[in-house]
Amino acid sequence: MSKMEVKTSLLDNMIGVGDMVLLEPLSEDSFIGNLKNRFDHNEIYTYIGSVVISMNPYKPLPIYTAEKVEEYRNRNFYELSPHIYALADEAYRSLRDQDKDQCILITGESGSGKTEASKFVMSYVAAVCGKGQEVNKVKEQLLQSNPVLEAFGNAKTVRNDNSSRFGKYMDIEFDFKGDPLGGVISNYLLEKSRVVKQPRGERNFHIFYQLLSGASEDTLKKLKLDRDFSKYNYLSLDSATVNGLDDAASFRTVRNAMQIVGFMEDEVQSVLELVAAVLKLGNIEFKPESRVNGFDESRVKDKNDLKEMCELLGLEQSVLERAFSFRTVEAKMEKVSTTLNVAQAYYARDALAKNLYSRLFSWLVNRINESIKAQTKVRKKVMGVLDIYGFEIFEDNSFEQFIINYCNEKLQQIFIELTLREEQEEYVREGIEWTNIEYFNNAIICDLIENNQNGILAMLDEECLRPGTVTDETFLDKLNTVCAEHQHFESRQSKNSKFLTDHSLPHNCFRIQHYAGKVLYRVEGFVDKNNDLLYRDLSQAMYKANHSLIKLLFPEGNPSKVNLKRPPTAGFQFKASVGTLMKNLLTKNPNYIRCIKPNDKKAAHIFTDSLVCHQVRYLGLMENVRVRRAGYAFRQAYEPCLERYKMLCKQTWPHWRGQARDGVEVLLTDLQVPVEEFAYGRSKIFIRNPRTLFFLEEKRRQCLEDLATLIQKIFRGWKSRRQFLLLKKSQVVVAAWYRRYAQQKKYQKIRCSALVVQSFIRGWKARKILRELKYKKRCEEAVTTISAYWHGTQARRELKRLKEEARRKHAIAVIWAYWLGLKVRREYRKFFRANAGKKIYDFTIQRIMQKYFLGLKKTTLSMSPIDKSWPAKPYGFLEGTHQELRRIFHLWRCKKYRSKFTKEMKATYEEKLAASELFKDKKALYPSSVGQPFKGDYVELSKNPKYQKLNSLVEDKVLLADVVSKINRANGKGAPRMFLLTKNNFVLADQKTGQVKTSVPLPDLSSVSVSTQNDGFFALRVKEGATSAAKGDFLLSSDRLIEIITKLHRIGSASADRNQIKIDISDEFLVQFKQDKVCVKFIQGAPKNGNGVICKRKNNRLLEVSVPSP
Ligand SMILES: Nc1ncnc2c1ncn2[C@@H]1O[C@H](COP(=O)(O)OP(=O)(O)O)[C@@H](O)[C@H]1O
Ligand SMILES: [Mg+2]
Repeated sequence: MSKMEVKTSLLDNMIGVGDMVLLEPLSEDSFIGNLKNRFDHNEIYTYIGSVVISMNPYKPLPIYTAEKVEEYRNRNFYELSPHIYALADEAYRSLRDQDKDQCILITGESGSGKTEASKFVMSYVAAVCGKGQEVNKVKEQLLQSNPVLEAFGNAKTVRNDNSSRFGKYMDIEFDFKGDPLGGVISNYLLEKSRVVKQPRGERNFHIFYQLLSGASEDTLKKLKLDRDFSKYNYLSLDSATVNGLDDAASFRTVRNAMQIVGFMEDEVQSVLELVAAVLKLGNIEFKPESRVNGFDESRVKDKNDLKEMCELLGLEQSVLERAFSFRTVEAKMEKVSTTLNVAQAYYARDALAKNLYSRLFSWLVNRINESIKAQTKVRKKVMGVLDIYGFEIFEDNSFEQFIINYCNEKLQQIFIELTLREEQEEYVREGIEWTNIEYFNNAIICDLIENNQNGILAMLDEECLRPGTVTDETFLDKLNTVCAEHQHFESRQSKNSKFLTDHSLPHNCFRIQHYAGKVLYRVEGFVDKNNDLLYRDLSQAMYKANHSLIKLLFPEGNPSKVNLKRPPTAGFQFKASVGTLMKNLLTKNPNYIRCIKPNDKKAAHIFTDSLVCHQVRYLGLMENVRVRRAGYAFRQAYEPCLERYKMLCKQTWPHWRGQARDGVEVLLTDLQVPVEEFAYGRSKIFIRNPRTLFFLEEKRRQCLEDLATLIQKIFRGWKSRRQFLLLKKSQVVVAAWYRRYAQQKKYQKIRCSALVVQSFIRGWKARKILRELKYKKRCEEAVTTISAYWHGTQARRELKRLKEEARRKHAIAVIWAYWLGLKVRREYRKFFRANAGKKIYDFTIQRIMQKYFLGLKKTTLSMSPIDKSWPAKPYGFLEGTHQELRRIFHLWRCKKYRSKFTKEMKATYEEKLAASELFKDKKALYPSSVGQPFKGDYVELSKNPKYQKLNSLVEDKVLLADVVSKINRANGKGAPRMFLLTKNNFVLADQKTGQVKTSVPLPDLSSVSVSTQNDGFFALRVKEGATSAAKGDFLLSSDRLIEIITKLHRIGSASADRNQIKIDISDEFLVQFKQDKVCVKFIQGAPKNGNGVICKRKNNRLLEVSVPSP
């Protein structure tokens, strides 16, 4: 628990006292006064220990909201103000956590709010228990069983517009986690007499009205019903409609609830058919018909209703009709049929109607049980909710009241037993001495009613079974003899002379002193009601019905199971079921809700003292308080007690460090509470008198007031101080900020001013400097301008002077020259001939030429024919001469050079020359061959011993011997071959062995083909028809192609009898291989990358040679 959680108590904000145990002084008046006080403040719940008293407010109160549920959830019983939720929570938690089966016993007069209370308990449990799809479905079914049962089992009475006319006990079953699994409903004693007759101002069961108002036209037609209530004898008309009850809407709710609970559509239909049949039955009337034997026999008056009812139930009309006129009595092996008079017929009709309806009701309960029963076999925890009629004391009390009051007597018994037992157990548990409590034990009254030998019920049964005439009077006589001695039995005729003159006790009545008061019972109808007779003819007629549900309801009508024994009497059945109920309740932990209604008018705000007093009396509430207070009135666990009162003692306030029990002991000693006023239990403190508790409470209240004042004082001081400190702090902050702001402003202003002043000064200074500078500049400009003007003037003057001078000098020179010329011409005219000028010119030229040649002679010129150097031309007019001389000199030095050649060199150069003629500018391979000397024999044939034999085979002189590649025509690959060329033929021999492969006479060759590229491929074509043409042409490759071809060509040109061999230079030529002609095509491949020439066979007719571009 967090520190801040507020611990509350029942004792807080109490109106009156929340727990009657604390009432001081305890009297009936104070008790009722307390109830009234609380009721007036809408506090409808009050405790007596753990019992909840509930006053019916007759108005909706806002205390059943989801928030309230949350408020009471998981809180201890005495922690909050009294509420039914506190009890439900206590019960549910002790069921879930301590595994104790619970029962919630709700008792009270009709209209006191029992049924509502039971619904609040169920809805609370539904709200706080587990959730989930399956669980929610179970909850929904359990909750929806209520509207169905209420429609069939509730009716408007003078006390309650929705009065339950049956007792109901419902076991809700939970699994180990506390999730609901299902439930079982038991019903007790439906008030079936209501089906045929209702007291003034009351109604029949709701369902009849709901069906007629809410069913569709179609349904009504099927059920052969009319919407008009007045058409039906069984429906009282004086209060057919009830304020605040919408029958039509309720009908829809009921149908919906039936669907949720799990009724099949045909089941609902059957149920409605039965309801309709009851209404029809009520309309059947009888008339007397005189018989010969003088007796009257009844006859059905108007057969239409009978017919319709039979149709509805699938009955044969005649069978039912007969059952209303005759009655068969079977005894041993005899069957006697007697006629029924009109009164008997009506009796039979009503008995049938009542039976039909009450059996239908029981079937409904069973059917609901079937739907809501738990689906598992695991052990279940059970919470029983008993909503049963309370004590009934009417003016006219009959068998029903007797039975009901008996039931209450039994409940009171277990109430006393269990309360005492619980009380005693608590004392034992807490180790406190148990002092015997005097209380009234009503076992003696129960005995009066239920004793098997001489109890009233046993007597009634005996009377009913006795042969001979049995009347209510004979029954009373019997009671008068048997029970006369009993303390609680009173009768006029009893032997006890005490009542002989008691005029409040009529002759046909007996009176029982119930624990809750005396009740006068009129014996009329006891025998009949106990017998609850339904003529066998009727039940057999019903069994014959062609209707599944009816057949099921009347099993005793089955002729094959005729049972001559009388069915158990109503009293017997009831006693048995009450017995089972009591046994069941005794196994559980009880929780009591005692309902009280404040007035008879169903009105809010009215509190009728006498009425409440009456209920308080017969509910034995005072008794209850007394029992509870007999030992110790109040008890509380040590912790909450210490928590609540610790402020009353210095040692325990504000914190007690030790055990709570010791704390409480210290506390009570300190307060000087008399020792006999309390006892220390194991976990609880027991306080004998409420006085003591109130003393503590009063002390606490005072103390709280003081504490509150103290707290207030300290808090106010603290608050003010805090406020002050805050203000102070704020003031400092504000002041600081303000000062800062003001300073900032001031500073900014000064700064601005300084800037302005500064700028003015700077401006002034600048302007001054500018002025000075401008002045200076203007002066300088003036000086410059003046000096420029001055220099200009000077310069122009000087220029003028110089020009003058130059003109003068030139004039002088010209004049002088003219004069000299004149003088010379005058002097030398006599020495010159006419062509002297030409001669002088020639002489000059001669001199220049002389100088040029001599200069040439002096320069040493290179004698190498390839040296291109030559002196520069000296004069432009000597250009032609100069070049001619150069040519001549070159020719001359070439001649000189050639004259040094030997014969071999000459041949070599001739060859080179031939090569040049053949290939220069035609084949790209040529330039590389220029520098190579043509050696001819590259294998040194004569010296190499390997080729000795080959050498000897060749007769002529070998002109060229070298290794070449012979290109395979199939794949373009080359194979090395020795290639020998002589004057007359060429030979191809194996390179290794020197063995001759082919020898072709040169005359057989027609031409040679080579490409223009930088490759060594050449094809030697053999003339067609030549002897060596068999093998076709030869495609060879050699680096020395130029030499080979040149030599081959020169051999042809050397001999006069032979044609020169033709040389084709082309990038595409044909080669004859045996039969095929193959085209050899040269293409320019990628630039040289080391791969060299690649020859590939492309197809049958194409060999492609890729030559790297240079
Ligand atoms: N706690 C309550 N708050 C508001 N109205 C109530 C409450 N309890 C009972 N009533 C009213 O009293 C009427 C009768 O209650 P009901 O539970 O049917 O009585 P009982 O079952 O004891 O005969 C209800 O129809 C309802 O109008
Ligand atoms: Mg009720």
